[in-house]
Amino acid sequence: MRVLITGHCGYIGPVMTRVFHGAGHEVVGFDTGYFRDQISGELKDEHPDFEFVGDIREIGHEVFAGVDAVIHLAALSNDPLGNVAAEQTQAINVGGTRRCAEQARAAGVPRFVLASSCSIYGSAGGDVPIDENGRVAPVTAYARSKVEGEQLLESLQRDDFEPILLRNATAYGASPRMRLDLVLGNVMAYAHATGKIRVLSDGTPWRPLLHIEDLSRAALAAAEAPIGSLPYHVFNVGGRDCNYQVKDIAEIASAALGNCPIEITGENGNDPRSYRVDFTRVFTHLKGYQPTWNLAAGAQEMVRWFADKPKALETLLSERFVRLERLRNLRAANRIDESFRWVPQVA
Ligand SMILES: NC(=O)c1ccc[n+]([C@@H]2O[C@H](COP(=O)([O-])OP(=O)(O)OC[C@H]3O[C@@H](n4cnc5c(N)ncnc54)[C@H](O)[C@@H]3O)[C@@H](O)[C@H]2O)c1
Repeated sequence: MRVLITGHCGYIGPVMTRVFHGAGHEVVGFDTGYFRDQISGELKDEHPDFEFVGDIREIGHEVFAGVDAVIHLAALSNDPLGNVAAEQTQAINVGGTRRCAEQARAAGVPRFVLASSCSIYGSAGGDVPIDENGRVAPVTAYARSKVEGEQLLESLQRDDFEPILLRNATAYGASPRMRLDLVLGNVMAYAHATGKIRVLSDGTPWRPLLHIEDLSRAALAAAEAPIGSLPYHVFNVGGRDCNYQVKDIAEIASAALGNCPIEITGENGNDPRSYRVDFTRVFTHLKGYQPTWNLAAGAQEMVRWFADKPKALETLLSERFVRLERLRNLRAANRIDESFRWVPQVA
């Protein structure tokens, strides 16, 4: 297949490109490049076969020529960004998704896979795992944008245009464009710099976690599923036994670091984002999806990743690894405008 991955120059994109290449597919990339230069490893097999540079809000039909499946990753990708850039999050994550989907459908692309998020369950979760029929209760602009993105894709569905909505768990794992603003990386960055693990909540919120290779395998299974073959179009995507409370994540990170001390400060109070998620459907109905990682192995991978990294917290939590910092800096330097479009630079 010829597969278009939007947002291929982010954290997940390079690893997903490798996974699709490994399955024998041709990969086309489309990205505006906010984080293109934030490379923290070798970028070798992770390059698409062809790439476009552009903004999904203006994406043109030519990008979709000959494409069999779209994996739509491009987005402003987390809660902190959505909190300070709610309008841009709405414009990119909803308006940009609409533009991509409409152009894809008009170009005759049959399969469109959205990288949605388990965070849409927001405050809906208790200790009972929530499945795809459960109530969504987004508590942030980012999560609301994912709910709207899902709804608009459902409204565009036709016999010859079949969206699949993958509600992904929070990702972890090493990538050539690393993020340390996600829970495991963040916990381990702090430990790497200070010698201890610090949890700012009371440690009780539930978070499902998934390695980026496994998340990519789910997208691969969705892309490869023949049109009309799936009984469902919405899937919670996680691994087996992948629901953790934040205090468990701290314990697993601590063990990987040789029993690094843990401090639960509780200073941020009780995080309203707590969701324990049921993944039965994806294992039962998304044929070919077989996650291979667990969190302990992921924490070990992170220990190896950190081995040659500086111990300064200001470097680890700088624009290189934190999406909000990067966009804040691009905006402060007037390299992007208020709408987060690039400002043409005078040579
Ligand atoms: N990382 C996670 O834990 C996680 C969990 C669930 C869902 N998701 C979703 O998966 C997707 C990818 O996540 P990620 O962690 O790789 O994020 P990321 O921020 O690292 O990458 C997003 C990419 O999208 C690009 N992009 C943003 N706005 C664009 C625009 N207007 N036009 C073109 N490109 C644009 C960026 O340049 C970047 O390369 C996102 O949609 C995110 O919401 C991520």
